[in-house]
Amino acid sequence: MTQSAEGTRDEVAEQHPAFPMVRTCPFAPPQEYAKLRETEPVSRATLKVNGKPTWLVTKHEHVKEVLGDARVSSNLKLPGYPHQFHIPEEMLQSVRLMLLSMDPPHHTDQRRMLIPEFTARRVREMRPRIQEIVDERIDAMLASGGPVDLVTALALPVPSLVICELIGVPYEDHNQFEEWSALMMNRDISQEEYGAAVAGLDRYLDQLVTTKENAPGDDLISRFIEKNRAEPVADHTDIVTMARLMLVGGHETSANMIALGVLALLEHPEQLDAVKNDAALLPRAIEELLRFFSISDSGTARVALEDIEVGTTTIRAGEGILALNNAANHDEAVFHDPDTLDIRREARNHLAFGYGIHQCIGQNLARLELEIVYGTLFRRIPGLRLAAPLDELQFKDDAMVYGVYELPVTW
Ligand code: HEM
Repeated sequence: MTQSAEGTRDEVAEQHPAFPMVRTCPFAPPQEYAKLRETEPVSRATLKVNGKPTWLVTKHEHVKEVLGDARVSSNLKLPGYPHQFHIPEEMLQSVRLMLLSMDPPHHTDQRRMLIPEFTARRVREMRPRIQEIVDERIDAMLASGGPVDLVTALALPVPSLVICELIGVPYEDHNQFEEWSALMMNRDISQEEYGAAVAGLDRYLDQLVTTKENAPGDDLISRFIEKNRAEPVADHTDIVTMARLMLVGGHETSANMIALGVLALLEHPEQLDAVKNDAALLPRAIEELLRFFSISDSGTARVALEDIEVGTTTIRAGEGILALNNAANHDEAVFHDPDTLDIRREARNHLAFGYGIHQCIGQNLARLELEIVYGTLFRRIPGLRLAAPLDELQFKDDAMVYGVYELPVTW
């Protein structure tokens, strides 16, 4: 069916399913995704946060198509952008766009400056320090005797420390910025709370960037400032905004993936044993866990700049699109038996890091963190087990990035 919804959108808005849809099983995408993929792979939905319409794209091939299309924009100031937060309009129009929300050519210029920080070689050089951080945290876990909450003991501090050291943020401030960051990821907070969290973090980073502008250190922000002096692509506010994206994007995501991955492996003991007995399986297992959870499902939001055809559907210029990577990564046309965790499958063509010009710049770092954490944790604490029933765990259904709030474990 060819459908262009603009004309009829208001009359049928009531019938559109509400987004986000809720997971009924912590280990599977919302059930609606499979139905949509089969019956209406490019479909309308109503955003719970503001009642506005959006397109949902649920097939792997279509998600790739949308994210690779130069006729779509990531600019969150465009009227049709499918927001999932309460952002006051005045604040929206005054915010500085971050890399994630920029279009070319600004996006291309800023991303080019950052690429050298995340090459495979640069990330490999971080291995010894990440290993040290992980070992220290596991030493502390062992010394405490257990049970411990794995999120606060390991999953959050490891990527938080790593990103702090990389970009040059003092880790002693972590309680404060982790709180702001968690609020910014929460879809259920009020406009005031969201605004206050962004403002608090920006004030903090503003001071930090000013300090580095005057006295550069050996860190990503200082190197960016130096390069930018030679070849300007950003002003002071752009650099503050970039630092915020790195800090938030660089720890929330990996932290959630660490905790969920440990939980999934503990719940699939045969697959966990296979990984413990053959470390060569770990990279494959990591790709599968990234696919299986696709924690940043609706983070890939876009607006059509022109009329575009996706499958048999016309999306009109100005309309918002959510290219759902959790739906794409559970597309049976690409992944056999997609709702089953299978660490032996070849899952590398998953879209958990997005696709196209905005594909995750930190993916090499995230993979390395996951490899070191999973590998070290199960080697050093082979008897690790859950210390609470699965059905008592609280999952982040309300957050932009999926995860688990606490993960009690013992050994
Ligand atoms: C498991 C961990 C991670 C996941 C699942 C993840 C997921 C994603 C996704 C889906 C996008 C694309 C968004 C879009 O197309 O609109 C993205 C972009 C981005 N990610 Fe990650 N990410 C992870 C870890 C990291 C880390 C460790 C960093 C550290 C710096 C990072 C920094 C970024 C940045 C800066 C972008 C924007 C890139 C651009 O717009 O060009 N991410 N990430």
